[in-house]
Amino acid sequence: MAEFKLPKNSEIQTGQSVDVAKGAKNARTFKLYRYDPDSGENPRFDSYTIDLDQCGPMVLDAILYIKNNVDSGVTLRRSCREGICGSCAMNIDGSNTLACLKPIEEVKGEVQITPLPHLPVIKDLVPDVNHLAAQYALIEPWMKTDSPMPTRERLQSPEDAELLNGSDGKGPAACILCFCCSTACPSYWWNGDRFLGPSILLQAYRWIADTRDEATGERLDQLEDPFRLYRCHTIMNCTKTCPKGLNPAKAIAEIKKLMVARS
Ligand code: SF4
Ligand code: SF4
Ligand code: FES
Repeated sequence: MAEFKLPKNSEIQTGQSVDVAKGAKNARTFKLYRYDPDSGENPRFDSYTIDLDQCGPMVLDAILYIKNNVDSGVTLRRSCREGICGSCAMNIDGSNTLACLKPIEEVKGEVQITPLPHLPVIKDLVPDVNHLAAQYALIEPWMKTDSPMPTRERLQSPEDAELLNGSDGKGPAACILCFCCSTACPSYWWNGDRFLGPSILLQAYRWIADTRDEATGERLDQLEDPFRLYRCHTIMNCTKTCPKGLNPAKAIAEIKKLMVARS
């Protein structure tokens, strides 16, 4: 049987173990992925045991407690701390999610945290999302119209707006581009150079479904490609992992239906 091994310089080592919760009743250990590509050293897991009574209830609170009080070198992205900016996306306890929306109490035992999978790592928990950003630019995520500019804003009926917002607020317009879904998609892992992946296809659908946009045919033409759209095999990891409860797999299915309808 074939045996697969990581190259020597990719094997994750065991790093430092720091306990700053001596005697605490509510102690918990956080195992953080640490990697600095410029150092030439292998990635490692550092463990920090902290007193949960000293920090807030979310995983992001714990990481910031560690950064502010124990090890200032821990590197991560975050901004809004309320599930709006999408920057604190990471893999927590084996699932991609937003650290600011993930309650610590939902994780049993040690909390293992790694960057979003299958992306190059800039440092520690910060992935390089440049390729995803370039794919986002490719779908031209802005309204395109040929008709004359109205004197007021372009109005929509409530029914048309619902196509974007969803009846439950979980329509495609609620996507925060955190990329949890794309980095959980096996098809994107293997074909991310050409497959656009669930987050970008959901965004593409957001403009296709917008009744004010006048470039639907052009947008569908751009996706009519064996890789860009059709590498989605409806595995559904994307929908399962979305921390905002959105359904990128359904958006992709809607695009495929439109392709069939116009053929
Ligand atoms: S449904 Fe499609 S986009 Fe979503 S995880 Fe599966 S293959 Fe990827
Ligand atoms: S669909 Fe969900 S998981 Fe994917 S980028 Fe948007 S908010 Fe993030
Ligand atoms: S910090 Fe903005 S989504 Fe978590």
